[in-house]
Amino acid sequence: MGKKVTVVGAGFYGSTTAQRLAEYDFFETVVLTDIIEGKPEGLALDLNQSRPIEGFETKVVGVTTGANGEGYEAIEGSDVVVVTAGLPRKPGMSRMDLLEVNARIVRGVAENIAKYAPSAVVIVVSNPLDEMTALTQLATGFPRNRVLGQAGVLDTARFTNNVAEELGVPVGSVKTLTLGSHGDTMVPVPSQCTVDGQPLTGALSPEKIEELVVRTRNGGAEVVALLKTGSAYYAPSAAAARMARAVAQDSGEVWPVCAWVDGEYGISGVYLGVLAELGATGVRRVVETPLTDTELASLKEAAEAVRAKQADVASM
Ligand SMILES: NC(=O)c1ccc[n+]([C@@H]2O[C@H](COP(=O)([O-])OP(=O)(O)OC[C@H]3O[C@@H](n4cnc5c(N)ncnc54)[C@H](O)[C@@H]3O)[C@@H](O)[C@H]2O)c1
Repeated sequence: MGKKVTVVGAGFYGSTTAQRLAEYDFFETVVLTDIIEGKPEGLALDLNQSRPIEGFETKVVGVTTGANGEGYEAIEGSDVVVVTAGLPRKPGMSRMDLLEVNARIVRGVAENIAKYAPSAVVIVVSNPLDEMTALTQLATGFPRNRVLGQAGVLDTARFTNNVAEELGVPVGSVKTLTLGSHGDTMVPVPSQCTVDGQPLTGALSPEKIEELVVRTRNGGAEVVALLKTGSAYYAPSAAAARMARAVAQDSGEVWPVCAWVDGEYGISGVYLGVLAELGATGVRRVVETPLTDTELASLKEAAEAVRAKQADVASM
C-alpha cells in the first residue's frame, strides 16, 4: 500500500516540507493541515497543479482543522506525521521564549494525532524543539522510539555549509556533526568532522573552528535577524522531509536527531540530540560515536539543561 505522510501546520516550514515530500514522488498522499481556514486547501491545490511540470504523482490533500479536532479524520492511516504547528521566533527572541504558547498548540495537536493516527511515527519540529518533542511523547503516550525531533540534521547542515564556505570546497566533501540541544547547549563535534576524509582539525586552526562552531550554534538566529519576520524554512524543511522519508522507507539511515536517550554516553531519561538509525519504528537505535572528553562533558551538560526544561513541560 502507498505511504501517507501528514504535515501539521501549513506555515513556511510546513508548506515547504509538504512540497519536498510531494516532489520525492514516493508517498501516495501528503496531507497538509492548518487552523487557518482555506490555507492548507489552497496550498495543496497549488502544489497539485505543479505536478505536471515537476513530474510527480503524489497527491497533496489540504485540510483545515477545528478547535475540537474537526478535520483530523484526514490524517488517519498516516505512517509519519511532521508537527510544525506553532509560532516561530522574532528577532531577539530565543527559542525558549516560545515555550508556553507552543506547548499549548503542540499538546492539542499531539492529542489529535494519538486519536486519529495511533500507529504513526511523529517527527516534531516546533520550538523549543527538545521540549516540544518530550511534550509530544507525553501527550500522545506513544512509545518513545516513535516520537523524535528534528534539529541535528539542520544544525549539522549549517555547520557543513559554514566549513565548506570557509575553505571554498564543495559541501559534498565536508562531513560535520552536531549533537546536544537545539539551542544554547548545542554540541558541535569537531573531532568527527572531515574534509575530503581528512580531519577538520588539520585544515583549520582551533580559533577558526571555534568561530564556525559559534556561527553554527547561532545559525537560526542569523537567519531570523536577516528576515526580520519569521524564521528559516528551506534548510529546516529539507531536514524534516529527509527524516520522514527515511522512516517511511524503513531505510536504516543514520542521522543526528532528537531522540530518547537511555544509557548511551552514560546519559538516561531525556530527549537529546544524538545520532540515530531511523526506520519504520522511528528510532531503531541510538548510535554512539566516539567523543573527546570535552565533547562528552558538553553533551552531558546539554542533557542536564534540557532535562530540567523537559520536566517543566509535563505540566503544560
Ligand atoms: N526544529 C527546527 O530546526 C526548526 C527550524 C525552523 C523553525 N522551527 C519552528 O517551526 C515552527 C513553525 O515555523 P514556521 O516558520 O512554519 O512558522 P509559521 O508562522 O510560518 O507557521 C506556523 C503555522 O502553524 C499554524 N498553527 C498554529 N496552531 C496550529 C494548530 N493548532 N494546528 C495546526 N496548525 C497550527 C499557524 O496557523 C501557521 O500557519 C516554529 O515553532 C519554529 O520555531 C523549527
